[in-house]
Amino acid sequence: MENLNQIFDVFIQVKDNFIHKVEEDGFIASNQDQTKAIFSDKWTEVERMEDVSELYSFQRDWFLNLYGFENESALKTFLADKEYIIDTGCGLGYKAAWFAELAPHATVIGIDISDAAILAAKNYKHISNLFFLKSDIAETGLKKGSIDFVVCDQVIMHTESPELTFKHLSELTSMKGQFACYVYRKKALPRELVDDYFRSQTLEIPNNKMWEFSEQLTVLGKTLSELKVSFISPDIPLLGIKGGEYDIQRFIYWNFLKCFWKDEWSFDLNKSTNYDWYAPSNAKRFSLQEFLNMGKENNMKLEFLHDEEACYSGRFSK
Ligand SMILES: C[S@@+](CC[C@H](N)C(=O)[O-])C[C@H]1O[C@@H](n2cnc3c(N)ncnc32)[C@H](O)[C@@H]1O
Repeated sequence: MENLNQIFDVFIQVKDNFIHKVEEDGFIASNQDQTKAIFSDKWTEVERMEDVSELYSFQRDWFLNLYGFENESALKTFLADKEYIIDTGCGLGYKAAWFAELAPHATVIGIDISDAAILAAKNYKHISNLFFLKSDIAETGLKKGSIDFVVCDQVIMHTESPELTFKHLSELTSMKGQFACYVYRKKALPRELVDDYFRSQTLEIPNNKMWEFSEQLTVLGKTLSELKVSFISPDIPLLGIKGGEYDIQRFIYWNFLKCFWKDEWSFDLNKSTNYDWYAPSNAKRFSLQEFLNMGKENNMKLEFLHDEEACYSGRFSK
């Protein structure tokens, strides 16, 4: 408890593994509030799924890839000198729990604006160096320079102003620390136009309609993927479509409409992935330059950069 107080600028109370800020966060913008409700809903559904461990193990492997760790033991070595670690936008907290287990000497805090923070605290009571906080990650109440590893994995674009969140998380990073961040990548024009439409409309569309829509997209993704058809598309630069050989499902997925389908996952887990793409009203996409500029504007040095069709990710230091 004492070591937790020393990294907060605000008064906190700690009950078991849950940190309460004595003064609650202030105003929440309507898009952020809707995004928070969507993720509370999503995580409550996902937590109940039988194959949730498939998601966790896929995500842990992807994390290593996204941030340049050759394997889990390379991550463990990296964490060996980190005293305070935060997983911002931690969802159900499985990555924060992973860090806490790999770095038993460290204090790890998972932070999420949604009810997932409460579910996570309930599920990980047995890990003694792991705590949870329900808060906006743009306004954590943590002290500047107090955190040795700041993780913001698949989250920042859901915050009200990713640029301000990036600034806050950069400020929290200690002089010897690193900040790992991921952003969604801008895609082909038709897909961006559909994405933008939903960003502006989901405030008005009831959740049950978004779940129905996600189910339809999942059926579409599965059906297209079962066709096992591939073809060669020409380059269509005005639409931002890259030429080459595509499976038909991937062609539509990358260029027109996110109709996610992964064979190894259950229908429901696939559906929740489609839901979490279209339902939140905050979900900004970035060009590489825009991503790198956030680092530059905050005087952060790029230590590692990764890019793939879906995203950019990297590690920054001071
Ligand atoms: C796509 S999920 C990623 C969860 C987790 N990092 C992972 O990789 O599995 C995005 C998470 O960010 C959280 N989130 C969105 N905006 C937030 C904010 N302003 N402050 C804290 N958490 C936020 C959501 O509640 C959600 O749990």
